Amino acid sequence: MAQRVRKAVFPVAGLGTRFLPATKTLPKEMLPVVDKPLVQYAVEEARAAGIEEFVFVTGRGKVVLEDHFDHSVELERVLTERGKTAELKAVLDCNLSPGKLSYTRQQEPLGLGHAVWCGRAFIGDEPFAVLLPDDLILAEPGCLKQMMDVYETIGGNVVAVEDVPRSQTSRYGILDVVEDDGRLARAKGLVEKPAPEKAPSTLSIIGRYILQPDVFRHLDRQERGAGNEIQLTDAMAKTIGSIPFHGFRFKGRRFDCGSKAGFIEANLAFSLARPDMREDVLAMLKRYT
Ligand code: G1P
Repeated sequence: MAQRVRKAVFPVAGLGTRFLPATKTLPKEMLPVVDKPLVQYAVEEARAAGIEEFVFVTGRGKVVLEDHFDHSVELERVLTERGKTAELKAVLDCNLSPGKLSYTRQQEPLGLGHAVWCGRAFIGDEPFAVLLPDDLILAEPGCLKQMMDVYETIGGNVVAVEDVPRSQTSRYGILDVVEDDGRLARAKGLVEKPAPEKAPSTLSIIGRYILQPDVFRHLDRQERGAGNEIQLTDAMAKTIGSIPFHGFRFKGRRFDCGSKAGFIEANLAFSLARPDMREDVLAMLKRYT
């Protein structure tokens, strides 16, 4: 049986240039979808999948992320005094267990592989998950939980995948597939952000990974790839041959909250999924169509 995954890395150092000026002082991971910041969705998805230790790879200007997962004594006191039980619960639900979250900084924007590598001391020699909060997934059970269930039987490295239009391959890590049963695709190679005509398939990596610690041996070399960045995709590709690599087609809808349109669609989809908001939002939408 595969070794249990207890730890997760959340790369949250990105500058969020696509959301300026909103992200001039606000980390992009704190942008709310309905009433919850993107990063909290990722943390809750990880928690629901059995993750116990949370490693945030942050950067300059991201301290509000740390505050978000800590007690806010004044706020909690005021909510308690006013009997605002639901709001108090929402605030308390953000807190993670003492000593179970760690923060480290990626001092230079050298790529996703480099960000994950910055968390290596907290991961040590055990399998771990990586969640990119920009990829928001509406699914029940959550995407990482679905991945954990298949990982238990197949082990190795498992990433979430989705078919994308060929014109979009240059935005993703793409699988070179050898076997595909429609749910799990075994890869013999990976290419980061290939041009459509060079892409070995249209099966693209979405921001959820279960990885064996061997990936750090390759990241240690700090080799540059696409965009002159240290790519996680390249380090994972180097493990193929010694560790099985599978792409898993999860059930659910994924929203690219790194783009404005994706972020707006996520707000729509998540509000429509909320019984307390659905009717109002549907009525509102009618006014625009
Ligand atoms: C990163 C990865 C890419 C993956 C994508 C998923 O790219 O490098 O392989 O497909 O996340 O969202 P980024 O979106 O950071 O450019």
